Amino acid sequence: MINIKSDHEIELLRIAGNIVYQTHQYLKPFIKEGITTLELDRLAEDFIRSKGATPSCKGYNGFPATLCTSINDEVVHGIPSKRKLKNGDIITLDICACYKGYHGDSAWTYKVGEVSKEVSDLMDETKEALFAGLAMVKPGNRIGDISNAVETVAKKYHLGVVRELCGHGVGHELHEDPDIPNYGKPNTGPLIKEGMVFAVEPMLNLGSRDICMLDDGWTIVTYDEKPSAHFEHTVLVTHDGYEILTTGE
Ligand code: MF3
Ligand code: CO
Repeated sequence: MINIKSDHEIELLRIAGNIVYQTHQYLKPFIKEGITTLELDRLAEDFIRSKGATPSCKGYNGFPATLCTSINDEVVHGIPSKRKLKNGDIITLDICACYKGYHGDSAWTYKVGEVSKEVSDLMDETKEALFAGLAMVKPGNRIGDISNAVETVAKKYHLGVVRELCGHGVGHELHEDPDIPNYGKPNTGPLIKEGMVFAVEPMLNLGSRDICMLDDGWTIVTYDEKPSAHFEHTVLVTHDGYEILTTGE
């Protein structure tokens, strides 16, 4: 069942989304060679709590941290650790916060110092795929229109589309209906309606789409060990398009 949010719920989702955005902005200057992902995690948790919210990921199915920190060939759900960032790495911070029972969810891939041109292009192309998907968000379109738009951009650049993980509805639960795959056919899937809230989140690989899980039971990596990028926004469907909730000041 896909929830249509009430005005009150939308207010709380806006605040939650804004806290997630602020957390990204707060962390950005710390993303430098030498910092550990655990240090970033502590900063993020303290910041989220200082805003009156809680970290949605911490304890979610047993996940141990506030941030998912996924470096280079790690696609999603990297666990913060004593690993230090190095010049030339890319790191995705996937941040979820819960405000008065409502969630915001946004992932962004960042450069650590200077990265190679092909990795920088991968980031730009994945961001392009996110916004191509979002451009399809309006009442009357279908979820498959978003999926197809993301896939079309990925194909244009010959990137691997991770199929096992999807975008999703966001609300009182971090993951709600509908699933939003990053591949699919136009004019298929659930109808998009005003008042829905969901996260669109392409995960695109420089190599093949194949992934596997590390022994820690969380970290998903590319099978061929090539880098992967991930950009995600939570959006509200408006009467004629969408409003990004994980943005603003
Ligand atoms: N944004 C992540 C996702 O949609 C949140 C994961 S929480 C975790 O998959 F606990 F599973 F890490
Ligand atoms: Co998500």
